[in-house]
Amino acid sequence: LKPFLIAPSILSADPLAVGASVDVLKGDFDWLHVDVMDGHFVPNLSYGPAVAKALRRRYPDAVIDVHLMVEPGEDFLDMFLESRPDCLTVHQEACRHLHRALSKIRAAGVRSGVALNPATPVELIKPVLNIADVVLLMSVDPGFGGQSFIPEVTEKAVTLCQLREARGLKFLIEMDGGINAANMAQVRRCGVDVAVMGSAVFGTPDPAATVAKMRLLVDG
Ligand code: DX5
Ligand code: ZN
Repeated sequence: LKPFLIAPSILSADPLAVGASVDVLKGDFDWLHVDVMDGHFVPNLSYGPAVAKALRRRYPDAVIDVHLMVEPGEDFLDMFLESRPDCLTVHQEACRHLHRALSKIRAAGVRSGVALNPATPVELIKPVLNIADVVLLMSVDPGFGGQSFIPEVTEKAVTLCQLREARGLKFLIEMDGGINAANMAQVRRCGVDVAVMGSAVFGTPDPAATVAKMRLLVDG
């Protein structure tokens, strides 16, 4: 098993004090997850590239994980690549030319991610798994923090693990949506490498202690 990574999602941070909310974590996170929403692919609005750039300036060494929920995904690659994220993820459902999009991200020296909504089968991305560094499985329909985990998605993680093994690939499996202390162990057991957590971290009085507690639930 690869190391288990925790990616707090700033969508659940104080929108008027995102930096302060991240600072509260005292650096005890693996990736910093940034949800970009366009009011079109998902029924909500969040951040644009200026926020991604500002985060990179303020946290030069953080692993910044940008999750694009925008359509067409291709149209927004350049502006987010400019913010120098570590990982840039597009949705399969929002990219007509997925192979081209993932190739372009990789060519820019950024880790390429492909995301799937809960109802989208893993089979649809089989032809691009060899050019994906991360596969993000949504465990809620994207658009909002604080929704309930859809447990059926864990089967998709198991399928992905088998495909990865069979083909000798190295992509990481990331899960996003409704992850909390109650389902964390289940999420890890089905083979997830990176757990995104919004409300379960920032909705608690001591987010840093919560992240530490989550690690214990998995490693302890
Ligand atoms: C949902 C976003 C998630 C969200 C997760 O559209 O992609 O990253 O912030 O929040 P929680 O953990 O509260 O479900
Ligand atoms: Zn996300």
